[in-house]
Amino acid sequence: MSEGSDRPEVVITPESTEVTSGNEVQEKLIVAARVFSDLLKPTFGPRGLDKMMFKTDGTTSVTNDGAKIVAELLVKHPAAKMMVSMAESQEEACGDGVTTTMLLCGALLIEANGLLRKGLHPLTLVDGYSTSFEVSKEQILRDSIETEQAHLLSVSETALSGKVAEGAIRIFPNMIVEALSTIHENRGEARAEHVSMFKTGTGSIRDSRLVQGVILKKRVMMNDFPNHIEGARVACLDGDVKIKELTRGTELKITKAEDLDSFVEVEKSRKNTIFQSIFNSGAKVLLCSGDIDKDIIHMLTDSGILAIGNLDTSEIRNASEATGSRVVDTVLDLEEGDLGFAGRVFWERMQDTDEVEDIFRIEECPSPGILTIEIGGAGQTATEEVIRGLYDSLRATSLALNEQVLIGAGAIHSRMANAVRNAAETKGGKERLAMEAFSRALETIPSTLAENGGGDPLDRVLELRAKSTSDSPWGISSNGDAWEVQGVWHPRSVIINSLESATETAMGMLRIDQVISSRGN
Ligand SMILES: Nc1ncnc2c1ncn2[C@@H]1O[C@H](COP(=O)(O)OP(=O)(O)O)[C@@H](O)[C@H]1O
Ligand SMILES: [Mg+2]
Repeated sequence: MSEGSDRPEVVITPESTEVTSGNEVQEKLIVAARVFSDLLKPTFGPRGLDKMMFKTDGTTSVTNDGAKIVAELLVKHPAAKMMVSMAESQEEACGDGVTTTMLLCGALLIEANGLLRKGLHPLTLVDGYSTSFEVSKEQILRDSIETEQAHLLSVSETALSGKVAEGAIRIFPNMIVEALSTIHENRGEARAEHVSMFKTGTGSIRDSRLVQGVILKKRVMMNDFPNHIEGARVACLDGDVKIKELTRGTELKITKAEDLDSFVEVEKSRKNTIFQSIFNSGAKVLLCSGDIDKDIIHMLTDSGILAIGNLDTSEIRNASEATGSRVVDTVLDLEEGDLGFAGRVFWERMQDTDEVEDIFRIEECPSPGILTIEIGGAGQTATEEVIRGLYDSLRATSLALNEQVLIGAGAIHSRMANAVRNAAETKGGKERLAMEAFSRALETIPSTLAENGGGDPLDRVLELRAKSTSDSPWGISSNGDAWEVQGVWHPRSVIINSLESATETAMGMLRIDQVISSRGN
């Protein structure tokens, strides 16, 4: 190193590269975590408020959903990016609990900061956090209980609360539980993807309902299309309903009038063969992904068969799973055995707008593998937020079908905090400080719930500590009071996963000793 300069003689990085070391590193990381926490805190829990977000392309959304907010921020800071990917992995794994995860990770880092400043070694903190996580996990296992039918409704409600208006909380959980239970019965498993959602764009949210089938948006091509078909056998075709076109460039040489006639005759008879294949199968509704020949549509319509073409492959697949029909690739292969069933098929012409689309409903399917929640309401922004809430709720409820549940509303976090605090007392040395920090970080959950509910966060947390010896779970009510929690349940993995990713991300950040930024600061 040359005298009087802090740059080494051999420089292996460009001038603009900036290196930060020591405590300054953690402080930088923690500032990022604090920004996130401050941003998300007010949205948390049943009394959380919403964010309005403008995107660079001018679109707006109003949301309370942690995953959505994090996804829309154009985050550049490397530490913040670690938190973004943590949020994404929670969303991917559980579909709920993203804000919880972000708040926990933020709190773990903020607590860590205080101890680092006092001179605690980062790895002592990491060890203490790691022990605390194990203690918390044991508490989770002790507190988990078997899921009963009544819990499912609560799980669904808990995931929805704060996302949709109070009135809607009364209608959707029943639909979600019914939908997932039906699917579970029919397919042996139920995932959120098995419930599709359809925005009607009219009426109010109270017009929402559960449809035992699928809804498709497509143009009604003719007014005399068959409508209101009862007890319809449904065919699903992933292909065209038309005769094969001549290869491009083929020339048709017609020298005599009879030639043309016979050519037309042949075409007609081939179209007729296709029509017969559909007709003979017994289908009353034909759904296909390709084009439908005009003449064939007329023949079908005349025989009372409703045919809808140009559907997406995914729409065909959904319709086939709802009606129980087999998707056929070639129309001539269609047989009676391939057909599914729908109790009622009808369509509705919508007012002319730029977005074509009339609505076809395929309902009352006897054992659907896919159902649809039809969501009423004219406001686009509001409906999108309802859909995000429903999706969280569907994901959480489908998890709860297969695993145990845990009490929410800050109760489980408060109980974990208590277990960690007790365990810390048995430890000597500095690890104990780290464990106490972990325990305080867990209390961020009840404390934020109290604050958003209008209660005093510190008082409430102390009250919960005092109640911690009682057997019953104490948490925070939506008014921000200490409350013997009832009817707020989460699937176990939402809680465990969120604590695990928060702890791991925080520990990962604490292990960083230098930030080397090639973009300068
Ligand atoms: N009715 C309720 N009363 C009290 N707390 C509730 C209620 N419903 C949900 N919560 C709590 O709100 C928190 C979830 O808030 P939410 O904003 O959905 O964040 P996340 O993205 O973490 O799911 C959980 O701790 C949950 O237990
Ligand atoms: Mg939630």
